[in-house]
Amino acid sequence: MKNRKTKLIVLFLAAMIACVGAGCTDNTAKTGSSSASVTSSAAASEDESKSEVSEESNTQSKTESEAGESSAESINETPASDSIDYMALVNKTHPLPEDWEDKLETVHMTNSVGDDVEVEKKAYDAYLRLKEELEKEDIHVDLDSARRSVADQQRIMDDFTEQYGKDYALKTVAAPGYSEHHTGLALDLYLIIDGKDVVENEDMIQYPEIWSKIHAKLADHGFILRYLEDKEHITGYGYEPWHIRYLDNTDTAKEIMSQGITLEGYLGTASEADVSIDLGNSEIYTQDELKDAVIQIKCKFASLAGCELKSIRYAGDGAVNDENLNRMNEIDNGAGYTQVAEFMMDFHTPKNPESLTLEADRDYTDYNWWLARTADGGWNIVSFGY
Ligand code: DAL
Ligand code: ZN
Repeated sequence: MKNRKTKLIVLFLAAMIACVGAGCTDNTAKTGSSSASVTSSAAASEDESKSEVSEESNTQSKTESEAGESSAESINETPASDSIDYMALVNKTHPLPEDWEDKLETVHMTNSVGDDVEVEKKAYDAYLRLKEELEKEDIHVDLDSARRSVADQQRIMDDFTEQYGKDYALKTVAAPGYSEHHTGLALDLYLIIDGKDVVENEDMIQYPEIWSKIHAKLADHGFILRYLEDKEHITGYGYEPWHIRYLDNTDTAKEIMSQGITLEGYLGTASEADVSIDLGNSEIYTQDELKDAVIQIKCKFASLAGCELKSIRYAGDGAVNDENLNRMNEIDNGAGYTQVAEFMMDFHTPKNPESLTLEADRDYTDYNWWLARTADGGWNIVSFGY
């Protein structure tokens, strides 16, 4: 994070450092399209990129496994499962499990523009079945991105930082090590409409009716939609109709999809309770502008593991003044903000908060969130806390 962020209100800072990561909308540049063909099977090989994840733990696991193969020394040890956990949770507060790479079996496919895409083996088979089903309805998709190494994710983060600035990058890309794409079970689809690739997020989002037909078929093939609309406070990301997640269990996938809940909600790491949002009646900002600000707040909130969000409300136009604007620019070292907005939040902390800076099992009410933006930029969270 930028130095200027070190001035964020201290109460929350330690909590966020451990888990700060991606942002709300996956605008990851999309490339590629069209028919898929398997080009190789990677099957937990000595793939160079895999060793990028958790090098240390990998080395240790491989040594143990080699020892097990060549001698009876480990015969009394409880054998570790040799399969990945298809229900594994990877999000802003849960990194990729350490032994993942040793168990992961992947295949490589080439998409229509010749990009190599690596996918977990069973997820790929299920994807092919889903694709076939969709084609019966004249819906055509291809794979833009699936498994990413930590280095891949870092490259995306760097690209976004260069193109859009660090604040935006942090709001759109998961922190390396904390992306579900590391699992190989997360697939980013893109659309092919009238033979043309629709790969950019802002273009794909224009086809809600096609996405809902796709989403309706996901669970039959063991997939769920991972980043739901209005669930940013749980998932930490905005709506991504293209990002699907394989669970290897159609019953579970059906349960999750039919209830419209998140994986976090299903696994019990987050509450799916309704959140009250009050955008007030601003004469300065449109409801959409305020909604954008709320999404940023909710995304950040998701980094506070186990906290239950109750409500967010716009504090009113009274806070939109030069004094507060100057304060935002001071905090962020002359960021050139031209607009400011204040929000209030109520939330409840868990009995055993992972954050050391929050009191356990406590209601926090009227908690302040200050956001600011430049004339041509999105909202930045400048400070939050009492
Ligand atoms: N955009 C998704 C959240 C990722 O970077 O993994
Ligand atoms: Zn994705």
